[in-house]
Amino acid sequence: MRKAVSMDSILVRGGKTLHGQIPIAGAKNACLTLMPATLLSDEPLTLTNAPRLSDIKTMTQLLGSLGAEVTSMQGGQVLAASCHGTINTRAEYDIVRKMRASNLVLGPLLAREGHAEVSLPGGCAIGARPMDIHTDGLTKMGAEIDLRDGYLHAKAIGGHLKGAVIDFPFASVGATENIMMAATLAKGTTVINNAAREPEIVDLATCLRAMGAQIDGDGTSRIEIQGVDRLHGATHRVVTDRIELGTYMLAPAIAGGEVELIGGRIDLLAAFCEKLDAAGISVTETENGLKVKHDTGRTKAVNVTTEPFPGFPTDLQAQMMALLCTATGTSVLEEKIFENRFMHAPELIRMGANIDVHGGTATVTGVDKLKGAQVMATDLRASVSLILAGLAASGETRVARVYHLDRGYEQVVSKFSGVGADIERITDS
Ligand code: UD1
Repeated sequence: MRKAVSMDSILVRGGKTLHGQIPIAGAKNACLTLMPATLLSDEPLTLTNAPRLSDIKTMTQLLGSLGAEVTSMQGGQVLAASCHGTINTRAEYDIVRKMRASNLVLGPLLAREGHAEVSLPGGCAIGARPMDIHTDGLTKMGAEIDLRDGYLHAKAIGGHLKGAVIDFPFASVGATENIMMAATLAKGTTVINNAAREPEIVDLATCLRAMGAQIDGDGTSRIEIQGVDRLHGATHRVVTDRIELGTYMLAPAIAGGEVELIGGRIDLLAAFCEKLDAAGISVTETENGLKVKHDTGRTKAVNVTTEPFPGFPTDLQAQMMALLCTATGTSVLEEKIFENRFMHAPELIRMGANIDVHGGTATVTGVDKLKGAQVMATDLRASVSLILAGLAASGETRVARVYHLDRGYEQVVSKFSGVGADIERITDS
């Protein structure tokens, strides 16, 4: 019988240079916020270019538990969502604890029904991740929110949210998305100052506008939303996954070779591309995307600080560290978004890397070559960084706990092996 959580592992035999093309999927993080937008309308929302991931299945399950229906079509690349009539407003702990993005149903439920009960997600491997910015914003919009039995109980006073000016203390991605969705159906105008500017926010605003919302300023740090009475159905294409893109750009940078990333765009990853350039990796635009080229020589050390967009993404920090492990010289990586996001460092050290972690700073002194080892990771991006490290390591690298990867990378083995990597999934029997 299959276990609920796959304990499969991935085996990489390092040393192959990579050549060919890798298609980049639609963004996980965009799709996870676009799906709850279906709660804002009685009419169908169709998402194309959806990624095929277990996190998308978890969101499908959560929306299903609330009374929305999400049908997966064309092998999962099209999601048809609909939500009409009365719905359930309680998002249960059993689903929410699996994925923090479940909290993105709070704003839409409150806007649609005037109340919602959403479990707090709890801790995750990369840090505490509270929800105070979300709840403070919704409180300003006229919601009363208490925490009872591990659930946020939220109620709009008078049955309806109202527009407000909200100043975020930090440009939280999830809080920007929750408030933006809630504000589409609030009475009056909402302004979010110090809003997140990530491409996934722009993608959500584009979809909400297609549904009839009035939103300006997405992509800047001041977003203004004029509430409307109702939203209608729409069809929307999910933006390219910039984190999947950056991850696969690092594959030829680490292993050597020349790989074209189909659908890649520099504007999604400008700060990351600048760092690749400084490390001596060539990135060029092509008709169909981006091409990354590197010989098998060592790259140069670079310093990296993670920041909200347009800065260097925290979701690419682990993968960048895998590159810098074999650079000439010393690189300093500073993690400014999450307090505990260097769990990949001890695993990379087991592969022969020289890394010193102090609080939110990792100092990486490049070594000539990494050596394959059995490793495991406790989160999605850390897992893929170990595969990347394995591509250029001598011998075999076996990465355990592949279920993390299944959350965020579709067809990971075929995408790497399609460009010549020696990689396979070992099924736990
Ligand atoms: C989203 C992404 C995640 C990415 C992160 C930062 C999704 C589904 N996930 O997560 O992959 O790593 O952006 O780019 O889109 N914080 C608070 N209070 C809050 C909210 C956040 O203190 O109310 C803190 C968090 O603990 C964290 C930081 O702010 O330290 C960033 O969080 P946020 O931008 O909200 O990230 P997410 O939306 O959870």
